Amino acid sequence: MISPQAQHNASIVDQFTRQAVPFSQMATQHEEVLLDFSGVNRDDTVLDVACGPGIVACAFATRARHVTGIDLTPAMLEQAKKRQQKYQLANLTWQLGDVLPLPFADNSFSMVITRYTFHHFLDPLAVCKEMLRVCEPQGTVMVVDATPPPEKAEAYNFAEKLKDPSHVRALPEAELLDVIASAGLQEIKTARYAFEVEFEASMKSFFPNPGDDEKIRRLFYDDLDKNNLGLDVHRKGDALHYVYPVLIAAGKKAA
Ligand SMILES: C[S@@+](CC[C@H](N)C(=O)[O-])C[C@H]1O[C@@H](n2cnc3c(N)ncnc32)[C@H](O)[C@@H]1O
Repeated sequence: MISPQAQHNASIVDQFTRQAVPFSQMATQHEEVLLDFSGVNRDDTVLDVACGPGIVACAFATRARHVTGIDLTPAMLEQAKKRQQKYQLANLTWQLGDVLPLPFADNSFSMVITRYTFHHFLDPLAVCKEMLRVCEPQGTVMVVDATPPPEKAEAYNFAEKLKDPSHVRALPEAELLDVIASAGLQEIKTARYAFEVEFEASMKSFFPNPGDDEKIRRLFYDDLDKNNLGLDVHRKGDALHYVYPVLIAAGKKAA
């Protein structure tokens, strides 16, 4: 019998094989904020966990000594390699693989980061522990993800799962901070940003189950100016927009 983890991984690879090209063409936003917040510099060897098409990894490679990106979806890594070539970056390595467990020795990197991934993990605490394990003592671990308001988390996650069936659960801020503190991260500091997207454009990069497109459209239009979904659905001219509330949390592994 196929395990729930294997079943979930198959759903991830299915979704992200189809999302790879549109996701890689998404306007890049907020990477500078992450570079500055993390404090990455030329001494750092960085691991980008579930790196997707390498948007964050390539940005970090402009400041770090070396960046390794690991991802489960081959089509995502193909896009990452293209991006590396486009920006003529030499200090990157790509690895195909699962983040649980991370296929690296203890204390291998001075910085371990992950963006827009925790909501895709069945066990974010286990992944976070792995991130700390492969990070060297006093190294930095940084997690970036959307964190819905707690009272809207159920509706938010329902909507997101409808758009992307491989979505598991975005954690409200307190829960996400609890996960990274339980994994052992210390001196945690946070910042937030709003990631705004145009609804119809975003729908081109999602692949819902057959027949769900119209359900999603109705759900979002019905939420206009109500914000039951925690996604601040609003109009801009003729277009519908919504906003992911994103948390950046970074801390240190104990000495
Ligand atoms: C929404 S994308 C984010 C990509 C990238 N981190 C970024 O911010 O641009 C999520 C990525 O997580 C990867 N992923 C999900 N579960 C994974 C797992 N268990 N092991 C490795 N990669 C995984 C998917 O293949 C996909 O590329």
